[in-house]
Amino acid sequence: MLEKYKHYNIKNVGEEVTLYGWVAKVRNLGGLVFIDLRNRVGIMQVVVRPENKYYDVALSLKNEYVIKVEGKIVERESKNSKLETGEIEVDVNKLELINKSKEIPFMITDDTTALEDTRLKYRYLDLRREALKNNFVVRNAITFATRKFLNNLDFLEVETPILCKSTPEGARDYLVPSRVNKGKFYALPQSPQIFKQLLMVSGFERYFQIAKCFRDEDLRADRQPEFTQIDVEMSFVDEDAVMTLGENLIASIFKDVKGIDIKLPLDRMKYDEAMARYGSDKPDLRFGMEIQDISECFKDTEFTVFKNVLESNGVINAIVVKDAASKYSRKDLDKLTDYVKTYKATGLAYLKYQDEVSGSIFKVMSEKEVNDVRKILNVENNDLVLIVSGVYNVVKTSLGALRCKLARDLDLIKKDDYKLLWIVDFPSFEWSEEENRFMACHHPFTMPKDEDVDKLLTDKAHCYSKAYDIVINGYEAGGGSIRIHDEKVQETMFKALELTEEDIQNKFGFFVDALKYGCPPHGGFALGLDRLTMLLTGTENIRDVIAFPKTASATDLMCECPSNVEIEQLNELGLSLKEEINEKNKS
Ligand code: AMO
Repeated sequence: MLEKYKHYNIKNVGEEVTLYGWVAKVRNLGGLVFIDLRNRVGIMQVVVRPENKYYDVALSLKNEYVIKVEGKIVERESKNSKLETGEIEVDVNKLELINKSKEIPFMITDDTTALEDTRLKYRYLDLRREALKNNFVVRNAITFATRKFLNNLDFLEVETPILCKSTPEGARDYLVPSRVNKGKFYALPQSPQIFKQLLMVSGFERYFQIAKCFRDEDLRADRQPEFTQIDVEMSFVDEDAVMTLGENLIASIFKDVKGIDIKLPLDRMKYDEAMARYGSDKPDLRFGMEIQDISECFKDTEFTVFKNVLESNGVINAIVVKDAASKYSRKDLDKLTDYVKTYKATGLAYLKYQDEVSGSIFKVMSEKEVNDVRKILNVENNDLVLIVSGVYNVVKTSLGALRCKLARDLDLIKKDDYKLLWIVDFPSFEWSEEENRFMACHHPFTMPKDEDVDKLLTDKAHCYSKAYDIVINGYEAGGGSIRIHDEKVQETMFKALELTEEDIQNKFGFFVDALKYGCPPHGGFALGLDRLTMLLTGTENIRDVIAFPKTASATDLMCECPSNVEIEQLNELGLSLKEEINEKNKS
């Protein structure tokens, strides 16, 4: 039988131990050889004295050699408070070299300066770093807490296929060609959405899965092409029941993994309110700087830019950066202007309320306007007011992004502060400029609000759905909805999305058919396991919580994939590459 890993400290002085591990560091201090032995548990200092018969072995050791040590735990003379084992060391009786190591491409330390590309190429070495390894300890604790919580409530863990038909999550699919059915393709699941709904039709009632999902989309710091969801579905429930289950699951994960008590029930904020106050459907509530509408102050303005905006139904909004007027130079403000322009804002106006008021639009404002702005925003001395005017959505999203940037720049975010909330009442449709039509905000099986069912065909801009997202510290940590189980509503929804009978049959005919065989009312959600792990480990890079992640261009630098395949493999699949791609691959 394997024993549990032991963590040694000062209380273990006098114990005889056998340790296996890697040489993290060897120091020859004029006689005594000190070895830092690293293993799953951490670092242990090992000391070999000149009179020891294994002294020569100790002298021959290099970084990353694999060793076995037998010895006695003793108290250290000079202690290291930074290490868990910093008060003790092992006085060696026996030292064995088990395996040597090639010279390593970078030093394995938590404060490594090695390029991320190098670390990804040698990921198995990078994972030896304590900080990185600990992320997987947290990840494991999260999945363990999840299984414990859901099993206690009789949820069944069911695996669903990886080779399947395209699912309707809205990103691009990863396709897998079929050898047996040449010219046909499987799609890797963007989520188990359709399958979990089918399991509800089957009567499973409570399902969950820790599911791999695949989406071919533009990657960001919190997005990977393959990622993992904690996927949940329940029958005979309404929004309240699903959200209550979801927040209890999250609270129990926070408690089990970090010992943090999350106050329940979580606040719920409507999508429209989140956009108005924070310019985002995933607002970070760890700091203030809410977006405020100051259009009213400028109703009689002579300033043509604002006048034109208001005449064309636009808005003038502001955020107040407390006590920051003296911190921002003209150059800094130009940089902030460039920043909001990346969110399509036409510009950024500012006012500095110091002993005297100044700013880019001060000269074109009346005294009344300057005072009205001061009053409506509760401005105090040395506050900086940043203003964007224009089309509603652009104004909101650009100021929303700016408020997050300023909070980071000004260090306004406290460590280990967690602010969770639900965003509810999402619109059913969003307008696509590209397609010049309304598209589904979630998937086409999301139930509209009862009062909006009749508006699906006549007033799409004002239809809301029974969909909800859970937001933690500005991250969309999860989302879900109540699904449509009524055939008539589903038909209307398809019509609203301008799907033809043929589209429906081709895309998800089997699924629509299944919903006709006694489908129970049902709903669910999926939490992003990677994002939860990021939040609980405090990293902002999703690659830090995935053992073998892809780069921003979706490549695996260690396995060197995607890669070319043999011509025979393509032939077997009935595929050939375009000439120009063949040429490019050869070069
Ligand atoms: P959704 O698409 O909102 O919902 O995904 C749920 C959660 O998964 C995480 N997530 C990602 N994490 C890392 N990389 C990605 N590329 C990525 N994409 C999504 C997010 C997100 O909140 N089937 C529905 C759920 C449901 O309705 O039950 C779904 O997949 O944290």
